[in-house]
Amino acid sequence: MGDVKQYSLAEVRSRRGTNGQPLWIVYKDAVYDLTNYLDEHPGGADTILEEAGQDATSAFDDIGHSSDARVVLQKYKIGEIIEEEKRFDANGKKKKKVVAVKPDDKPTSRSCLGVITCGLLG
Ligand code: HEM
Repeated sequence: MGDVKQYSLAEVRSRRGTNGQPLWIVYKDAVYDLTNYLDEHPGGADTILEEAGQDATSAFDDIGHSSDARVVLQKYKIGEIIEEEKRFDANGKKKKKVVAVKPDDKPTSRSCLGVITCGLLG
């Protein structure tokens, strides 16, 4: 547990395969070093280059990669995103955005909503 490396999104962003840097991407809060996979990718190097240094979760999922592709991906895993910046919970579900609620909020928005609700009902 303790020996999984943790990286910030900022650190991943600085690894885009340019200037002698490796090429990292994020997939579901895990970090992958694809520097040596670029030229082997059946979908071409360009598609991966476009995601360099970024979260490629939706790009990867949207094209409908096979389960084989997911196995390949595991070979290149180098670590995980730091806890504070993770987008998925322990069950692999997308975390809900936490919206801070100010306790001293004036009830203006609520009365607005009341007007709309009353308008709809009445
Ligand atoms: C992140 C690591 C990635 C790995 C390990 C990976 C792996 C693979 C593999 C094994 C295939 C062969 C088909 C299959 O098994 O599904 C494939 C195809 C493909 N990949 Fe990826 N892929 C990655 C990222 C991406 C990204 C970010 C894109 C961008 C949209 C992409 C676009 C494609 C396309 C378009 C094909 C189809 C190629 C064809 O059928 O001619 N891949 N990928």
